[in-house]
Amino acid sequence: MDDLKIAIAGVGTVGNGVLILLRKNRKKIEKKIGRKIKITAIASRKSRDFKGLKKTKIFSDANSFLNFSDYDLLLELIGGSDGVAKEIIIDALKKKKHVITANKALLSKHGNYILKLADSQNVLVGYEASVAGGIPIITVINNFLVSNTIKKISGILNGTSNYILSKMLETKKDFKTILNDAKAYGYAEADPSFDINGMDTAHKLSIMSSISFNNKIDFDKVFVSGIENIQYTDLKYADELGFKIKLLGITKIVKSKVMQFVYPALVNKESLLGKVDNVFNGIMIETDSSKKFFFQGEGAGALPTATSVLSDLERISLTNYSKKNYKNTGILAIKDYFKIDERYGSYYFRIKTFDVAGVIADISKILKKYNISIKSLYQKENAEKNYNEVDIVITTHNCEEKNVCKATNQINKLNSTKERVVIYRVEIT
Ligand SMILES: NC(=O)c1ccc[n+]([C@@H]2O[C@H](COP(=O)([O-])OP(=O)(O)OC[C@H]3O[C@@H](n4cnc5c(N)ncnc54)[C@H](OP(=O)(O)O)[C@@H]3O)[C@@H](O)[C@H]2O)c1
Repeated sequence: MDDLKIAIAGVGTVGNGVLILLRKNRKKIEKKIGRKIKITAIASRKSRDFKGLKKTKIFSDANSFLNFSDYDLLLELIGGSDGVAKEIIIDALKKKKHVITANKALLSKHGNYILKLADSQNVLVGYEASVAGGIPIITVINNFLVSNTIKKISGILNGTSNYILSKMLETKKDFKTILNDAKAYGYAEADPSFDINGMDTAHKLSIMSSISFNNKIDFDKVFVSGIENIQYTDLKYADELGFKIKLLGITKIVKSKVMQFVYPALVNKESLLGKVDNVFNGIMIETDSSKKFFFQGEGAGALPTATSVLSDLERISLTNYSKKNYKNTGILAIKDYFKIDERYGSYYFRIKTFDVAGVIADISKILKKYNISIKSLYQKENAEKNYNEVDIVITTHNCEEKNVCKATNQINKLNSTKERVVIYRVEIT
């Protein structure tokens, strides 16, 4: 059989990981797919020593791939939602080449078009590495769960934010200090905005949601709230109440609408997701046939992510594989999206007040007015030993988000309220 010719665009963290694994395990992969692998071209902006790749064309810009066709499979490992990554993928598909990408930013924006184009060209797009790095969650949803109906997916999908939340609690340090530590240890990029503002989680969630519910990828319909304002105080109070705060991506069908929410939430610290700490990712899938499928692993990093890239290579290169991408393009099975103000669930309130008589009565009156029933309430002296103020920490029974917003507005206006009320959602996972 002919060699499998691959072209690799981008030799950064993931691209380098792919080259390392190919150097190490090429023979094993070749035996499995029944073909020799030939790297016909690499696009690398930096000049590198590509040992043992004497016959490989080395381009200094991936743009050169637009005028290059000697490959069967493009590995796009550059990143970015537009620009050269998008151009070379579309060009490759138009040339009837298969594509593998780890690029969640691009897929969440242009995935519908890209997958449709691939189908029309009778080629495949592999994107296992785009969600949760080394956890094979796309294969689980697309293949393993073919006999089940997915009810809900909840996941910790961003290692950087999970590291920050874990370390803040462990070291009692503030957000900025831990973020700087994360950068120093290589757990956060120089610009970690998408990690901490929830966008990276939202990109991944929109891809998972689409394939789980046979819908279009609709990133714009994801409600996103990040961890950039998180304070140690709330991690500590949550801990005392038996919870951890985790940045979650949640998707499910509620009242025939698709929910796609990303926010930091309290989860039981003894739950499976509650125990996923540091840079690890964790994903819980509930289906009609099993209450909990749970996956935990490295959500990023050169070799775990490269493992996902090369698992796509194995799948795509199997000649008897149907050349059809999964049915997640064009068919908008569900038209409506569940909005955040429709949420019905439990909440955590932290209210910093002056320590004066009648404060709790005032707060309780407002909560009662909005049909919010208190599950637990406790009062903590201010951590900075300012005896004139206290933190009142409340968790609620299930109630409506709309009412929580109205109640919060009113509590913020009380003379006794010293700072804006801090609210987190509580999730049962
Ligand atoms: N890192 C992870 O753990 C991880 C996990 C899952 C998914 N991903 C995804 O994988 C993709 C790659 O991520 P990464 O972490 O490997 O990024 P990275 O380390 O920044 O690597 C990207 C590489 O592409 C190169 N590049 C940029 N423009 C180019 C061009 N026009 N021609 C040739 N090379 C070009 C960059 O060169 P310079 O070095 O000169 O800038 C860089 O070496 C992204 O879509 C990312 O979201 C990454």
